[in-house]
Amino acid sequence: MNIEWTKLGFEFLPTKSNIRFTYENGKWGEGCLHNDYKIELSVASNCMHYGQAAFEGLKAFSCKDRKVRIFRPEENARRLNSSLRHLLMPEIPEATFIDAVKTVIRDNIEYVPPYGTGGSLYIRPVVVGTSPQIGISASETYEFIVMVVPVGPYYKGGIKPVEAMIVDDIDRAAPCGTGHTKVAGNYAASLLPSKIAKKHGCAVALFLDSKTHSFIEEFGTSNFMAITPDGRYVTPESPSILPSITNKSLMTIAEDLGIAVERRPVPETELTTFAEVGACGTAVVITPVAKIHHGDKVYAYNTETMGPVLKKLYDRVTGIQYGEIPDTHHWMMEL
Ligand code: PLP
Ligand code: COI
Repeated sequence: MNIEWTKLGFEFLPTKSNIRFTYENGKWGEGCLHNDYKIELSVASNCMHYGQAAFEGLKAFSCKDRKVRIFRPEENARRLNSSLRHLLMPEIPEATFIDAVKTVIRDNIEYVPPYGTGGSLYIRPVVVGTSPQIGISASETYEFIVMVVPVGPYYKGGIKPVEAMIVDDIDRAAPCGTGHTKVAGNYAASLLPSKIAKKHGCAVALFLDSKTHSFIEEFGTSNFMAITPDGRYVTPESPSILPSITNKSLMTIAEDLGIAVERRPVPETELTTFAEVGACGTAVVITPVAKIHHGDKVYAYNTETMGPVLKKLYDRVTGIQYGEIPDTHHWMMEL
C-alpha cells in the first residue's frame, strides 16, 4: 500500500475488503467481509436488465484528535431505505446499515486518509436485485454491499470554481432532470448530458425541471445552492431532486450563522441575480460554480475563488467533519 494522500482525486482504488449481506427467503443474512471485488451474478439478474439498484455515498474522516468519525450515517441509512421502498426492494434496518459501515471502515482503517491531507474515506453502500428473471417484477434475492475508497476532491483543482452547462435539448429517456425522483439509483440517463457538458469544457451538467424546462433542479452530481447579493441562501425545492444530506446540513449551518435560508422553486431567470453559486454534496462538498452556460447565455459568478459566503459555509462544515470546531449538532459518529 503506497498512497500519496494529498494527490487523491475521486477515483476507484481497491482497498482491503468490502462487506456483503444476502437477502433470501424474505430476510437479510449476516454480513461477511470479502477481500475481492468479484460477485457471482446470474446473467438474467434483475439489476442487469431492469436496473433494480440503489446506492448511497457518505464519508469518514480522520479528525484532529486522530479519531475516525462518520458524517451523519443515520441520514444515509434513512435515505437508502426511502430509495429501497421506491424501488420495491427490502429495507435494511438502520442498525445493520451503521454496523456494516463501521465494520468495513474498521477493517480498512489504514485506508482512511490521515488528518491534514484533506482526504476522506468515501463509503459506498449499494443494494442490487440478483434473482434471475425475464418478466418485469421485483427481485426475490438481493445483495447489500458496502465498499470504501480513499478520496480527495471530486473535481480536479479542489475548491477552484468549475463551469456548468444546462443540457436540456437532447432526446433521451429522461429529457431533463437526472431522473432520480428522490432515489439514488440509476444514473445512466445523466451520462449523455454530462458528456455533452464536458465536451463544452464544463465539469458538470445542470438540469432543469422536465415539465417546463424553466426551473433549476440540480447538478448531475450534487444539489444547487446560491447566495443572493443580500446574503440569503437559496436552494431549489423540487420533488425530483435528491434530498442532499450536505445541503440539509449547510442549511442548518447557514441558520446557525444568521443566514436566511430559502428553499423554493428557483427559475432559471434568477441565475442573473445570484452573487455566488455552488454545487453541494458528499463527493463535491461545496464546489463553487464560476459560470453556467445555456445555449448562447452565460451566467457568470466568482471565477477565481470561492465566494465569501460559500467559503464561510465550507469552512464550517469541513471544520465539523475534521473535528476542528465543535460538533454542536452531533453529526459526527465515532467508530
Ligand atoms: N444530487 C445528486 C444527483 C447526487 O448524486 C448527490 C450525491 O449523492 C447529491 C445530490 C448530494 O447528496 P448528499 O449531500 O447526500 O451526498
Ligand atoms: C455522492 O456525493 O456521494 C455521490 O454519490 C455523487 C456521485 C457523483 C459520486
